Amino acid sequence: MKKFFIQTFGCQMNVYDGQRIAAMLKSRGLTETHDVADADIIILNTCAVRAKATDKVFSALGRIRRAKKADALFGIVGCVARESGADAFRRIPELNFVLGPQSYHKLPDILESPETKLLNIDLGGLEKFDEMPQMERSPAVAYIPIQEGCDHCCTYCIVPYTRGREVSRNPLDVMRDVEHAATTGAVEICFLGQNVNGYKYTDKNGVTHRLSELIAGAAKLDTVKRIRFTSSYPTEMTDDLIDMFRTEPKLLPFLNMPIQSGSPDVLRRMNRPYSLDLYINIIDKLKAARPDIQISSDFIVGFPGETDNDFAQTMDITDKIKYINSYSFKYSPRPHTAAAVMKDQIPENIKAERLAALDARLNEIQREFNESCVGRTLSCLCEGPDKTGRHMVYRTPYMQQCIVATCDNAPTIANIKITAANKASLRGEIVD
Ligand code: 5AD
Ligand code: SF4
Repeated sequence: MKKFFIQTFGCQMNVYDGQRIAAMLKSRGLTETHDVADADIIILNTCAVRAKATDKVFSALGRIRRAKKADALFGIVGCVARESGADAFRRIPELNFVLGPQSYHKLPDILESPETKLLNIDLGGLEKFDEMPQMERSPAVAYIPIQEGCDHCCTYCIVPYTRGREVSRNPLDVMRDVEHAATTGAVEICFLGQNVNGYKYTDKNGVTHRLSELIAGAAKLDTVKRIRFTSSYPTEMTDDLIDMFRTEPKLLPFLNMPIQSGSPDVLRRMNRPYSLDLYINIIDKLKAARPDIQISSDFIVGFPGETDNDFAQTMDITDKIKYINSYSFKYSPRPHTAAAVMKDQIPENIKAERLAALDARLNEIQREFNESCVGRTLSCLCEGPDKTGRHMVYRTPYMQQCIVATCDNAPTIANIKITAANKASLRGEIVD
């Protein structure tokens, strides 16, 4: 029996794509191996959002080409495939296939004709979601893509190039996937998209469907206990969606809504045309709908031209919003983006200093929030055992990690009394 090896880098959309690729290969009779040397087909499912991510892929390719069986088929799918195109074959001549994020359903072609070099980095369709077989069983958290691509064109971002223009899936297809997940093990549904709250589908009767409707549809299913969505763009946070936080208890009180920078000047040069007042106003509306809602953000430091004063404004906004579970990155110039050719690129040492200062502040805020949870009882979702096998890892409604002593038959959803906290995680005891 032939074996496949797949390694996924990057975002949740990639994790989902990797699961679908594995399901497709299994449906063709292949089995999965975690040993590259034993595999007949090797797939790297790749991320190109920062230069470091792309470099990681090429160093993994270098390692794998020495470790693999001589006749193993070997290739990349996802965003680095789209970023590099035919150039990937030049850099790694052993590669057999290079398939972009919207063409990995063509993977079986290489199994049919292994002697060819397969290159497909076309954009423009979401057939892959519907052409590929479903996973047999869903994990407890089912990631369901509802849209792909992004029309915002932030000047630093390669995503509009790698994943293309925004396309939303038919809500009937989405709901079919939600129902399949809910009947095969999912208790949490996470709707996914690069610009997930921009989801918009106009059907043949001219009726427009929005994310709020998908949330309401998923909430009707008894086995679905928790719903969330990621990642949101501030100005697409429409009132119908904000209202879901008021009316739908299954929707978690947690929202990832990246601000990227606290400086209006930097935001303008990033082509993110919202004012801080508007952003804060959206958060006020969210808090009015769900007083305990917590917000997470992504930040970029060292964007071209960012002054000390611009950076100080980013530090100020973290204090004002009290973001939790956030990510911060040094600006990384990417091909096909406008910011890569802007003047005043910031030296690496300044980027590193700013990142360290921001991370320290974000960690401090996270610790304060974690500590404020001690003594509360929260309904949490079990993610499985930790590496030692001595503990179970749960997720709170605010997506903090909560560590619990292992017990037999740990419930998938449990009420957990939080007993201790540090900056990275909580500890707790199951109370029922
Ligand atoms: N450099 C650094 N960070 C980036 N991101 C996107 N593009 C870049 C880049 N060129 C970050 C943004 C985004 C997250 C997924 O990655 O913060 O929200
Ligand atoms: Fe990239 Fe997000 Fe901006 Fe879209 S909204 S261009 S995905 S950073």
